[in-house]
Amino acid sequence: MQQADLIKRIKELKLKRNAVILSHYYSRPEVQDIADFVGDSLALSQEAVRQDAEVIVFCGVHFMGESAAILSPNKTVLLPEIDATCPMADMVNVEGLKKLKEEHPEALVVSYVNSSAAVKAESYICCTSANAVEVVNSLDADEVIFVPDKNLAAYVAARTDKKIIPWEGHCPTHHQILREDVLRMKEKHPQAKFIAHPECRPEVLELADHVASTRGMIVYAKKSPAHEFIIGTECGLIHGLLKAAPEKKYYCISEFACCPSMKMISLEKVLVSLEKMQHVVIVPEDVRIKAKEALDRMLTVKV
Ligand code: 13P
Ligand code: SF4
Repeated sequence: MQQADLIKRIKELKLKRNAVILSHYYSRPEVQDIADFVGDSLALSQEAVRQDAEVIVFCGVHFMGESAAILSPNKTVLLPEIDATCPMADMVNVEGLKKLKEEHPEALVVSYVNSSAAVKAESYICCTSANAVEVVNSLDADEVIFVPDKNLAAYVAARTDKKIIPWEGHCPTHHQILREDVLRMKEKHPQAKFIAHPECRPEVLELADHVASTRGMIVYAKKSPAHEFIIGTECGLIHGLLKAAPEKKYYCISEFACCPSMKMISLEKVLVSLEKMQHVVIVPEDVRIKAKEALDRMLTVKV
């Protein structure tokens, strides 16, 4: 089917199913373009609650669809690609987390939203890259277990007086951005500001002019007087940057800054998802209730 026909059919089915399409900034450009809302993890969680559609087609990885299903149990949340999982979210499991909790009985658990519903259910509060520092600093505890991203944990540890107990997880896409990549790009584009996501290694973040979530990076690039930016995150973000501030230039940090899971979601799969009403995200009710408490706590923290 031609792209125009695919888009027409998706729009028709969206109306028929009373559905909305939510997309993360790392999705393919054509997928972002058919979405009703494109955002970072925090904004997508908030939007899932705000929408009054019966069906949410979530163009993002599994944990994002799960968060929407946890927060909005009366809506049907569909994932166009069931195998689009986040490798970092899979790096932490409930057994390991329970063991760490036993070793640190005084600590509160903060789980990055890039985690399973079961891990969220074992956590006191969730956070995203947009609010991690504020979430940790809001806690009435001196010790915090932070799972699963060790790079985000290090970023937070440098901005809090609390003791951060990290988990050994990382995002393969961000972790393979190296200091040498940044230095090479800075030499090639000496006028450009380097903006980076806190999932990058500490030695990469040290070189950044600004560190922020994906949405935070867009806000910064738009407001900044600079005209050129080296983008230290998944390069799908450049589509959103070009929409927000098309007069500026954006350079992808490296050809490897690509999340294979996000790129699995295509227009064809969005169409099939709406046609067959697949793949429905199911979270067991006992897990959902506990995970919702952790997400709800996060949503009350002011950023
Ligand atoms: P944000 O959307 O919170 O910036 O997170 C990036 C990410 O890696 C999502 O998987
Ligand atoms: Fe997971 Fe990294 Fe992909 Fe985000 S970019 S979904 S953290 S693997």
